[in-house]
Amino acid sequence: MEVVIVPDAKAGGELIAEAIAALVRRKPEALLGVATGSTPLPVYEALAGTVRGGGVDVSRARICQLDEYVGLPAGHPESYRSVVLREVVEPLGLGEDAFMGPDGTAADVQAACEAYDRALGEAGGVDLQLLGIGTDGHIGFNEPCSSLASRTRIKTLTQQTREDNARFFDSLEEVPHHVITQGIGTILEARHLVLLATGEGKADAVAQSVEGPVSALVPASALQLHPHATVVVDEAAASKLKLADYFRATYAAKPEWQGL
Ligand code: GLP
Repeated sequence: MEVVIVPDAKAGGELIAEAIAALVRRKPEALLGVATGSTPLPVYEALAGTVRGGGVDVSRARICQLDEYVGLPAGHPESYRSVVLREVVEPLGLGEDAFMGPDGTAADVQAACEAYDRALGEAGGVDLQLLGIGTDGHIGFNEPCSSLASRTRIKTLTQQTREDNARFFDSLEEVPHHVITQGIGTILEARHLVLLATGEGKADAVAQSVEGPVSALVPASALQLHPHATVVVDEAAASKLKLADYFRATYAAKPEWQGL
């Protein structure tokens, strides 16, 4: 995996937005997997800016969702469908027809999971999957001890993740216990994985994922198994990496044409 240490979240957002723009210039109909949470917002802001400035035409690109809460009513502002439409799809000037995600309101949730997993493959597979990381090392909503071969399925959130996400709701009680998430095996099928982590609160999870053993206990460590995984971290999130200087030197020596 490649680790890129950037000065701050804005720089990370700009770097990843440029990688996405470059992908869409090469492949206009690219399927872009997006993540929710606060961390990726600078990516979406930078990419929307590039689109508005005419730097890339994303009109044929498609956006797909990583995970979803189960049981929030359709149109709930904090359902990940609503979040992705609001933060990504609309700012990029795309319509809902460019968007695909799992149905968190389905009566048969397992069938909805399987249908979504199949749909991703039928759409040609994800070209670039953007990921954040939970403080417990989760990606998507694959909590610790998720199978590294898992497919899209229903999961139960840990208390830690519910507390971390309570800031988006009026109270902790309102945070759903159950979610749908692309499995780790599903995520690993994307052609390029880009994980962004910022802030000191992510430093332990980043160090364990990048420098620790591959372990279901730290789901993001599965990125070590992927042939093209990029981890972009700010100085604070990089603060516990033993190899930080090596990562800096490697990236500084990288020819510009190689991109992310
Ligand atoms: C949620 C999402 C993850 C995201 C994580 C971190 O759990 N399911 O995809 O990476 O939050 O969120 P934040 O970036 O706000 O710290």
